[in-house]
Amino acid sequence: MTIHEFLDLLVRWVHLIAGIMWIGNSMLFNWLDRNLEKAKERASEVGYEGKMWMVHSGGFYEVEKRLLKPGEMPSTLHWFKWQNFTTWASGIALLVVVYYANGGAFLIDPSVRALGQWEAIAFSLGTIIGAWLIYDVLWKTVGKSAPMVAGALSIAALLGIAYGLTQLFSGRAAYLHVGVLLGSVMTGNVWTIIVPSQRKLVAATESGQEQDYALNQKAKQRSIHNNYMTFPLLFIMLSNHFPGTYGHPLNWLILFVLMFAGAGVRHFMNIRYAMKGNAGWLGPIGAIAIIATVLLFVLSMRKPVEVAVVTPPPSAGDAGTTVPARVEFAKVQSIIQARCVTCHSAKTTEPMFPVAPNGIMFDTPAQIQLLAPRIKDRVVVNRTMPFINKTGMADEERALLGQWVDEGAKLE
Ligand code: HEC
Repeated sequence: MTIHEFLDLLVRWVHLIAGIMWIGNSMLFNWLDRNLEKAKERASEVGYEGKMWMVHSGGFYEVEKRLLKPGEMPSTLHWFKWQNFTTWASGIALLVVVYYANGGAFLIDPSVRALGQWEAIAFSLGTIIGAWLIYDVLWKTVGKSAPMVAGALSIAALLGIAYGLTQLFSGRAAYLHVGVLLGSVMTGNVWTIIVPSQRKLVAATESGQEQDYALNQKAKQRSIHNNYMTFPLLFIMLSNHFPGTYGHPLNWLILFVLMFAGAGVRHFMNIRYAMKGNAGWLGPIGAIAIIATVLLFVLSMRKPVEVAVVTPPPSAGDAGTTVPARVEFAKVQSIIQARCVTCHSAKTTEPMFPVAPNGIMFDTPAQIQLLAPRIKDRVVVNRTMPFINKTGMADEERALLGQWVDEGAKLE
């Protein structure tokens, strides 16, 4: 294992654990808020917001939500903020390890734009910081009086940035950057708005003053934004497993549809309780699911490269009948030798990948045959292999591989 791979493993592991804790907490609190029961006899009590009983891991938990009276500060108060920070910090570390290091191998795709490594890193950092500034200023100005307008502008800006990123970076890196951007906005919300306003509430309570509920409202607004960003962000974290999405020519549009569907599902989870006793919410959820599925299906349908017409050898003395064209394995092997084994071999020759990526090797006929369906998918259908077409594969070669797979991927 190289140092690079080890760092990737370590940071990714931390990132996943912290992310589960952060998003898990936030979903649990959302759920608590929606499920609190208000006892009638306590309805007139000042500050009482409801309570509930839960059972978990062998014990019963009684949770009550209430506003604190001035001077009523409990001696120990638990905050939930480091999960967010750890997730974000490990995410940025992962961005450096996976996308900035290694000569920007996963970041730069010369067929999209031939950026230099430092140029690409500058664009990357600039977009992340810029996106936060635009968002924050927008919601501190327009968002105050016209949240609907600020909401529409934010979505339009996100679409614009997602499109712009796909014109700068490899599809995979563009997707990931939209994720980093959302995660950074969420973290900015936590540390510059939500935590400070909670601090002020705590300080007011401690010093025996009334709480300023305008602060509460401001924190609530950003908290709702974070809530809607979680599902889209989670898809983006997984997106590098789906070359059919980021490898598509309309990858920015696919990303947007998926983000919209994710936020939509979150929305219905949020309002489900308000719609209690009424199966009406099944309709909108169904509609979103259908629209998203249809759109995705249509968008991910991509015509494989035209199959080259292999001229059949003239069949002597048998005029009128044609021998069906067949791609021989020897041909396939020579293409793979020329275009793939620099990276996919027990001994790679590509400095970017000292170890065969994903453990995929094409050294023997059996290895090639076993991976035939993946080869067709990556090389012919979504054309995300060879990696950034580093080995300069021609369309005819893709077509030949596709035809070989279609003909049953035989070793003769
Ligand atoms: C410059 C290096 C490079 C070259 C050349 C290359 N690949 Fe890859 N390949 C990668 C990397 C990096 C990954 C892992 C990242 C990914 O899946 O996108 C990968 C992953 C794969 C996978 C596994 C992922 C999956 O979807 O199952 C397959 C299959 C694959 N490549 C096939 C090929 C074929 C076939 C060729 C030749 C036509 C080829 N590759 C050429 C770098 C390369």
